[in-house]
Amino acid sequence: MKHYLNKLPQDIRGIIHNISQAAVEERVSAYLVGGFVRDLILGEPNFDLDLTVDGDAIKLAQNLARKFQARIVIHKRFGTATLTFCHKKIDFATSRKECYPESACLPVVSPSSLKDDLARRDFSINAMAIEISNKNFGRLIDHFNGKEDLDNKKIRVLHNLSFIDDPTRILRAIRFEQRYGFNIEANTMALLKDAVNLSMLEVVEPQRIRDEIILLLKEKDPVPALKRLNSLAGLKFIHPCLKLKRAGFSLLRNVSRQIAEFSRNYPGLRRLDTWLIYFCALVDGLSLKNSEAVCRKFVFRKGEEKRIIAYKKIKRGLIRKLCDKKIKFSGIYELLEAQSYEVVFMVRVRFANNVLNANVDHFFNRLSTTRIHTSGNDLHQLGLEPGPGYQKIFKQVLDAKLNNTVKNKQEELALIKQLIKKHGETK
Ligand code: CTP
Repeated sequence: MKHYLNKLPQDIRGIIHNISQAAVEERVSAYLVGGFVRDLILGEPNFDLDLTVDGDAIKLAQNLARKFQARIVIHKRFGTATLTFCHKKIDFATSRKECYPESACLPVVSPSSLKDDLARRDFSINAMAIEISNKNFGRLIDHFNGKEDLDNKKIRVLHNLSFIDDPTRILRAIRFEQRYGFNIEANTMALLKDAVNLSMLEVVEPQRIRDEIILLLKEKDPVPALKRLNSLAGLKFIHPCLKLKRAGFSLLRNVSRQIAEFSRNYPGLRRLDTWLIYFCALVDGLSLKNSEAVCRKFVFRKGEEKRIIAYKKIKRGLIRKLCDKKIKFSGIYELLEAQSYEVVFMVRVRFANNVLNANVDHFFNRLSTTRIHTSGNDLHQLGLEPGPGYQKIFKQVLDAKLNNTVKNKQEELALIKQLIKKHGETK
């Protein structure tokens, strides 16, 4: 296993050695666990270090934080700590076992052995550990044949109640299956279907489902996973009226294609929240009222809900205007500038038409980042008293700039002088 660690970038190896040394000083055993180990074996880049400690994880993290002046956040109640170290986040947890007093609820956790800690996990491929304490540095611990399942490309639960205890694992199984091109092993598939038939996705706390949906939508291409989810579980756990048919998948595929084009075409613009765009496409067929109900149920953050609902509220009138060949650039700006890039992007995909696309492209290309050079100070120097008149003038200058009738500060000032003359707005 050592050779896997040797393949890691130098900085990550350095961090692991530092943790290893600190573990020796603290006389505890430390293990890399979970997705990091899975991806290390698969040769997939993943630098989210997840550590389980047979002993006091918080003390170990504190020791490292002191030594390397790293930022530390401690959750005493859970026996966990997160270090931010060389721009990387590293999670430390005291090895623990879980007991589910009721299915689909959060488990009660208590300190335990590494084996118990691994046994509480979702799938065998996520239940391996690599010891990094001194004498056994690099040793793979694989109680549940995770390596064999990785080799055979299998997603396998560790026990029959796994999906009942934690139904979010239904979404996780599909996500990992599609991400790595694996198969859900036959018994696991039967258990997954049993859990779906028991409507387990409808009894979990919605925020936990939301977090898993977001993770699924953040996958490089979430469309195959959505397709699989739709065929294995349906989407009524999101909303009873939500169904994905041919048109819905076609919209999702168009989103997927155009997201790749967007980052190529507009490298200067802020990155899109792509999961939110996929979510808008997902609820495209739902009414506004039902979409609002979904947002309430999943308790999206304010900014997220705002964008999803803004998309649902896009009016036919706006689309008609964007389809007008003669619309001025300032008109395009006025229609779109109050919308988020995610909503504008969805408008382009959903209501695609040559003129609309060209107008939206122009918005992304130039209009959305157009700024004027004139400031309040300039207006003051021209003899204008500060007041609501300033905004009117700025708007006219911006419109002129958007419409290419002024290009630089000199031309902006010339336009302002004309406006002052016309309206007599001097001191
Ligand atoms: N885990 C689990 N059951 C869950 C969520 C997580 O057993 N419902 C365990 C798994 O062992 C997982 C680890 O916690 O590997 C860390 O979870 P997380 O960070 O969500 O996932 P990763 O496996 O790291 O996957 P990803 O690559 O998507 O981050």
